[in-house]
Amino acid sequence: MKEFDSKVTKSILTGIQPSGVITLGNYIGAIKQMVKMQDEFKSIIFIADMHAITVNQDPSLLHQNIRSLVALYLACGIDPEKNIIFIQSENEYHANISWLLECNTPFGELTRMTQFKDKSSKNANFYAGLFTYPVLMAADILAYDVDYVPVGIDQKQHVELARNIAIRFNKKYGDTFKLPEAYITKEGTKIMDLVTPTKKMSKSSENQKGVIRLLDDTASIRKKIMGATTDSGCEVKYDAENKPGISNLLRICASITGKSILSLEEEFDGKNYGEFKKYVADIVVDEVSAIQKKYEEIINSDQLDKILDENIKVVREIARKKFMDMKQKMGLYK
Ligand code: TYM
Repeated sequence: MKEFDSKVTKSILTGIQPSGVITLGNYIGAIKQMVKMQDEFKSIIFIADMHAITVNQDPSLLHQNIRSLVALYLACGIDPEKNIIFIQSENEYHANISWLLECNTPFGELTRMTQFKDKSSKNANFYAGLFTYPVLMAADILAYDVDYVPVGIDQKQHVELARNIAIRFNKKYGDTFKLPEAYITKEGTKIMDLVTPTKKMSKSSENQKGVIRLLDDTASIRKKIMGATTDSGCEVKYDAENKPGISNLLRICASITGKSILSLEEEFDGKNYGEFKKYVADIVVDEVSAIQKKYEEIINSDQLDKILDENIKVVREIARKKFMDMKQKMGLYK
């Protein structure tokens, strides 16, 4: 069983839905943060497969995407020695905890979730799971008493809901959950679509030209970046409102290189958009090529199954204890 260094006291957790090959947005918003933080925090990262089935999925494709995402986590630098990596549905206590939390979550609070409002407005025949999904996410987080949840800004409201659910539960039944906080970086907060830079780069986007996926071939990644929508000006300056396209490329660049946006603006002072885009394409292609090379080594090895088999035991035990504690506090038969 994995043992954490006892000097490490604070913990982080995040999850990603395996609803397609993950995007550069997922990488920058969540995975890269986890990689940066894994030395200093107890780290838990999982595949949110039960979240993915809140909308229709092709079962065989979903199955493949789950395994592929575990391999991508490792290829992106998630170190299995420093993280607990697991598949959400393999730990049945998430769903059990979620039900107990649902029975303590006002309906009205869930109707205010902007992601639900957005997704349900696009498809009137949505499933009940899409509505209760934020409670399952609260269960994912609260089961492990984590301190921080590294996510992109689109998930901030859900982490705040988890915190509110925890506050309410603690008040009603006594101290049960640690209060989590979203951990969001300035640059990685929201990576935008390359064609429509006013909307989020998303796994489910219909126009593939605007989305970079970590397993896209590198020639097409270069083409997408060179063809990214920019404004009619020529200055490489950050201005999210008036220059959303260039600002997005600056954010991508800053997140990957670790340089500040200001220093990138200085570096490209007097240079044109074409030169800047070529630079962005080079650094993204370099980063993604390295990930793809590692991915190919990992995907067919038996390393994945070993890690998953070992880690699931650890998380099931932690979540089981939390579930039993909640059951007892709520008066259920134990
Ligand atoms: P998901 O699968 O939509 O996205 C995974 C992570 O990627 C971030 N992200 C982005 N960050 C920056 N720019 C973007 N364009 C971009 N697109 C996505 C998301 O904010 C997220 O951090 N409900 C979650 C999964 C989940 C979860 C959890 C996360 C389930 N349980 C518990 C944290 C803790 C989701 O659908 O993420």
